Amino acid sequence: MSAPRTGTNIPIIRAATPEDAPSLSTLVAQLGYPAPAEAIPSRLTNMGRSEDNTVQVAEEDGQIVGVMTARVMWVIHLDAPLAWLTALVVLDSARGRGIGSMLLDSAEEWAKHMGAQKISLSSAMHRTDTHTYYDNRGYERSGLRFTKKLGAG
Ligand SMILES: CC(C)(COP(=O)(O)OP(=O)(O)OC[C@H]1O[C@@H](n2cnc3c(N)ncnc32)[C@H](O)[C@@H]1OP(=O)(O)O)[C@@H](O)C(=O)NCCC(=O)NCCS
Repeated sequence: MSAPRTGTNIPIIRAATPEDAPSLSTLVAQLGYPAPAEAIPSRLTNMGRSEDNTVQVAEEDGQIVGVMTARVMWVIHLDAPLAWLTALVVLDSARGRGIGSMLLDSAEEWAKHMGAQKISLSSAMHRTDTHTYYDNRGYERSGLRFTKKLGAG
């Protein structure tokens, strides 16, 4: 199990705002996708165009220490929308204190609220610690991710 938190305040989970851009830039970089803070507000705007997306942050003592993004989508093989965890990352200095699990719980609650009956995610092959993390939280290993670049983007 995770070590107990030592901070004075319990982290809160809330919707991300454009003012969170600098913190989100740091977190997204720690996930392996470097992005300038200036790029973040338009991404939030694009995601916010649909209620099928959520972007939630964990804030502890006024600092953003984690972010989770998820979406739901209708697919031909299910009678309920499928939820997909599209990002989960906790600031490296704040890991192992339950913040990731709070964000994951929030993703699952949001997905259920949106009518999803299951939630999936993909994770890079090299993140073996993270795979164990999901194993321990009831996620089954069920496929491989295939990616093909389309053009120069
Ligand atoms: C995976 C991640 C979100 C977990 O967040 P967290 O706040 O450290 O997680 P919690 O404190 O809730 O849980 C800690 C658990 O994760 C494990 N863990 C995995 N990677 C860890 C890390 N780098 N640091 C600390 N704990 C880690 C611990 O062993 C612990 O397991 P246990 O509770 O079964 O004993 C976080 O480690 C992270 O951001 N990792 C890098 C980015 C990443 O891999 N994101 C997921 C991409 S699919």
